[in-house]
Amino acid sequence: MAQTKDTDVKTAKKTKYDTPHEDLREWLTRADALGELQKVEGADWNLEIGAIAEMIYHATPENPPAILFDNIPGYPKGFRILSGMTASPNRLAMTLGLPEPKGPMDVVRAYRDRMKDFKSIPSRFVNTGPILENVDRDDEVDIFKFPVPFLHELDGGRYIGTGDCIIMKDPDSDWVNCGTYRVMVHDKNTVGLWMSPGKHGRLIREKYFKMGKPCPVAISVGHDPLMFLAAGNEIQYGTSEFAYAAGHRGKPFDMLKSELHGLPIPAHGEIVLEGEISPDDLRPEGPFGEWTGYYASSVRPDNVVKIKRVYYRNDPIITMARPGRPPSDYTMSKSVIKSALVWDQVEAAGLPGVQGVWCHQNGGGRLFNVISIKQAYPGHSRQAAQLCCNVHAGNYLGRWSIVVDEDIDPSNLWDVTWAMASRCDPIEDIDITRRAWSGALDPRKQAGDNFNSRAIVDACRPFEWKDEFPPVAESSPELAAKTHAKWGHLLKK
Ligand SMILES: Cc1cc2nc3c(=O)[nH]c(=O)nc-3n(C[C@H](O)[C@H](O)[C@H](O)COP(=O)(O)O)c2cc1C
Repeated sequence: MAQTKDTDVKTAKKTKYDTPHEDLREWLTRADALGELQKVEGADWNLEIGAIAEMIYHATPENPPAILFDNIPGYPKGFRILSGMTASPNRLAMTLGLPEPKGPMDVVRAYRDRMKDFKSIPSRFVNTGPILENVDRDDEVDIFKFPVPFLHELDGGRYIGTGDCIIMKDPDSDWVNCGTYRVMVHDKNTVGLWMSPGKHGRLIREKYFKMGKPCPVAISVGHDPLMFLAAGNEIQYGTSEFAYAAGHRGKPFDMLKSELHGLPIPAHGEIVLEGEISPDDLRPEGPFGEWTGYYASSVRPDNVVKIKRVYYRNDPIITMARPGRPPSDYTMSKSVIKSALVWDQVEAAGLPGVQGVWCHQNGGGRLFNVISIKQAYPGHSRQAAQLCCNVHAGNYLGRWSIVVDEDIDPSNLWDVTWAMASRCDPIEDIDITRRAWSGALDPRKQAGDNFNSRAIVDACRPFEWKDEFPPVAESSPELAAKTHAKWGHLLKK
């Protein structure tokens, strides 16, 4: 395994540049300068790449590198796979153009600050770009020319689309949606595309099918990480994820019109497949390792996409996001964006005194969510925990909603579980909400049952006697600061 050199690692950390990265290639140079790019040569597409990603992201969950796989057996050197684009706080901040963070909560705060006067920026259409370096048409199409990974042992096939952007145009308006939905390869020019009910891409597909037409689609499987961040999170219906992603870079993305359907495709993208979803060609899709860490939904028939064009850069890079038992290569960024959305929404619902929100990677950013507040009135803490799991961003497939005091860092599991262990009396402080919103991927539900329950855990000091609660046995901030100043060197390895 070749790693970045020590000299690279010592390069000054710089997460904020004067100009946004132009594309994934420039982003890679910056990630390397940050000392956060690990290069791996010779790993096999068949299980090894998936298992290496799992090994690295499980071993270093706090600050894992991005992994660039090259020299994949059976494929030309340069045909690469990138895992874990935004899996560390530094790389996420660098991607978004935010200042260097001390930890993930700093990224949440900076993201929320930006959103106060955020503006989306529509794409700019151009006539050419690196994505046109190679174009395979009709009979030339062979998706297996790319090192499509087989990720987990129990998967039903090779998945080219995991950290992808699925581009579809609403037939009734100019709106172009872009979502991350998994893409399984059936054969050299046919893929499966799983969009769960209610997702915007699925709603668009249904409109075409109702008109008795196939649904045009462009599938980008390698691109700027900003596009993946927008595509993989719940951006408002009717909003273009590309414009949203461009808002973060303060500059439009350059797009080309695809040959067949005129869909916008990233001019600086790596690989784009174009085709149509057929209303009446269904093949078995799945199973596939899921973000909850299980295979809860099994194989079932789903509509396939017939691929008629493949556009790709020389030495193309597949951007991969491998779901599975957390943490995985995208869960950090999922948690940051989700936490910022929940925080915004609980405040919009009128909740005061919020100090932080963190949707833990352990729960895939959905199942184990913590909100920290400065208690101001009786009932404040229950209101916070209830809202945290009932606002839209925090509602789907949740399970644990925990409220803690302001001295607890919601992103720190030591802090959170200590508060649960010491400030929560289960019989008094846990409420249950029944028949809440679940779905097909919930490992704890039975087939056909789309409800689950929520535990509302109040791990705050009881409001009535919070000021008489036993004092915490730790150094005062003054003593801690003095000790750090004089003895902090003892912490350095
Ligand atoms: C790595 C990753 C993989 C995902 N895979 C799927 C998937 O296979 N199917 C799906 O419906 N949603 C999937 N999602 C969730 C959607 O991308 C997410 O809900 C997004 O908001 C969908 O876009 P939309 O809101 O435009 O429908 C995935 C998210 C991520 C980050």
